Amino acid sequence: MGIRIRNIGSYVPEKILTNDDLSKFLDTNDEWIYTRTGIRQRHIAAPEEQVSDMGCSAAKKVLEEAGVSPSELGAILLSSTSPECLFPASACLVQEKLGAKNAFSFDIQAACSGMVFSLENARCILKGNPSMRYILVVASEKMSAIVDWENRDTCVLFGDGAAAVLLENDFQETPDALFPAHLGVDGAYFESLLLPGGGSRLPLTTALLDERQQFLHMDGKLIFKLAVAGMTEYSNIALERAGLSPEKIDWFVPHQANVRIVDATAERLAIPSEQVFRNVENYGNTCAATIGIALADMRARDLLKPGQLLLLAAVGAGLSKGAMLVRW
Ligand code: UT7
Repeated sequence: MGIRIRNIGSYVPEKILTNDDLSKFLDTNDEWIYTRTGIRQRHIAAPEEQVSDMGCSAAKKVLEEAGVSPSELGAILLSSTSPECLFPASACLVQEKLGAKNAFSFDIQAACSGMVFSLENARCILKGNPSMRYILVVASEKMSAIVDWENRDTCVLFGDGAAAVLLENDFQETPDALFPAHLGVDGAYFESLLLPGGGSRLPLTTALLDERQQFLHMDGKLIFKLAVAGMTEYSNIALERAGLSPEKIDWFVPHQANVRIVDATAERLAIPSEQVFRNVENYGNTCAATIGIALADMRARDLLKPGQLLLLAAVGAGLSKGAMLVRW
């Protein structure tokens, strides 16, 4: 049996917030944001638009285009750094809104590495369930609801959006499109990027709200270095395990947090700049959704050709790290 990517798609909210818009209420400017991050704008969800809504918008497009009914899905894996509630899993809302009555669903919390972690989990589930035909991998983020709009260090970096990938077991003797991923975490950096308040450790209180602990906190400089080192190391391991060298890669599709992180990683991997996909300029960091949105953009721009080898890599809060090779 072979696992293949049957379809991929994305959704971003209509509202766009540019760097110039930000400079109207924050002590920042387009020049600083663009030169430090490569970001020009990000999409912002409407107040009533939730993670499950954005995930469903991407998922519906993907299923309709593929001619696959939601009832044919065996599982839905949703990765989100900004889930709707601590529990239950937002994946349950996606299941309900899609009408995927035969699917089990759960959330994957791996922050910006969410898409790579989800694809690997979906791959393993399909391998372990030879009778299951389809799994839907969804990544959806409403980062605008969890960043501190009074903190210019962090709020300028993030955006909202979603992506969906439909994986199919084609029951043929075809090679898998997804290679086994290399995944890992380093919990020593738990405090370096987190949302401290609102969980069981720091339940919400007025004092906690006054301290703005309900919002994302990040040691940006440290995460920058860890992201470059982690994506480089994990990409090299994924390549080595597949017996491939970086020259075999047609496209490097890394997590889109900061174009300087992307470029520094590609340089260390010796992947030519023209084979590196970048779209952070248009979306900011949509955390778990960036790689899916990138793949959807690449396909829309006709950049992906059958047989091409893609290297996906991400580092995120946790510290979570992952790299995966994909045969398009
Ligand atoms: O993938 C996981 C998620 N992680 C990330 O996306 C973030 C990783 N980190 C980064 O992308 C970068 O470290 C940042 C973009 C967050 C910062 O870039 P940097 O080159 O490391 O900036 P810096 O720390 O050297 O610059 C900080 C300076 C400070 O001013 P002083 O102390 O040097 O006077 C800040 O106050 O830049 C100032 N600053 C800003 N100025 C204008 C910080 N944010 C802003 C801002 N506008 N938005």
